[in-house]
Amino acid sequence: MKRITYIIALFFIVIIAASSCDGVRREPGSVYMPDMSYSRAYESYAARDTDVFTNNFTNKGEKIFYNNVPPAGTVKRGELYPTEQLTDTLGTYATSYTLKNPYDTIAMTKFEMSEAGRLFNVNCAICHGAKGGGNGPIATAGHVGGVANLTADAYVKMTDGTMFHSIAYGKGVMGSYASQVTRAQRWMIIKYIRTLQPKPTLEKGADSTSMAKK
Ligand code: HEC
Repeated sequence: MKRITYIIALFFIVIIAASSCDGVRREPGSVYMPDMSYSRAYESYAARDTDVFTNNFTNKGEKIFYNNVPPAGTVKRGELYPTEQLTDTLGTYATSYTLKNPYDTIAMTKFEMSEAGRLFNVNCAICHGAKGGGNGPIATAGHVGGVANLTADAYVKMTDGTMFHSIAYGKGVMGSYASQVTRAQRWMIIKYIRTLQPKPTLEKGADSTSMAKK
């Protein structure tokens, strides 16, 4: 009696084990929602499977559309919206003085100011000097000529907007720093440069309150 129970149990185990390995059942069938079946996760430098992905908008739906471009209007976390056209560099310099520094209205925190100083020392002091005097090691060694003395009157009078433009697109021998410092950081660095500059001298007749507002 005991023996027959074992034989029956073994029989069922064999049947279950054999049926669970049915190869045909592993086929997922036709995929009617590719976005759900395949992850959109994308390795930046890996080759893309052209059977699954397409960069042709008209094939959207049949395949997963992906063209490496962030959706229009998106900005990096902590980054400001673009303030000007990214194309015309000659034309925009002349009008850049109108751009307003967002830190005119929101005062920078102590931390932001020390961060701005750090960024200036890392990226700019090598040419412009730690005090902005245009006498950084690269300038004094004669590797780059004509480095601007940011404490000079011309730069005291230069608006934040024009400085922003020059940092973003470069000016003369100075290259663009757009990839090194974010928009917010550029405006912060400009505020830091202001702390290195002598206070603007009051013009005759101007009262101190109206100057302070500028
Ligand atoms: C490789 C050296 C070098 C570095 C690094 C450098 N600059 Fe300059 N910068 C120059 C030179 C040279 C000029 C003068 C360009 C001209 O007027 O032709 C200049 C000019 C400027 C001006 C005046 C622009 C104008 O419109 O006349 C500002 C503002 C400025 N630099 C800010 C910065 C800031 C901020 C950084 C760091 C993010 C920086 N620079 C990094 C070399 C440098």
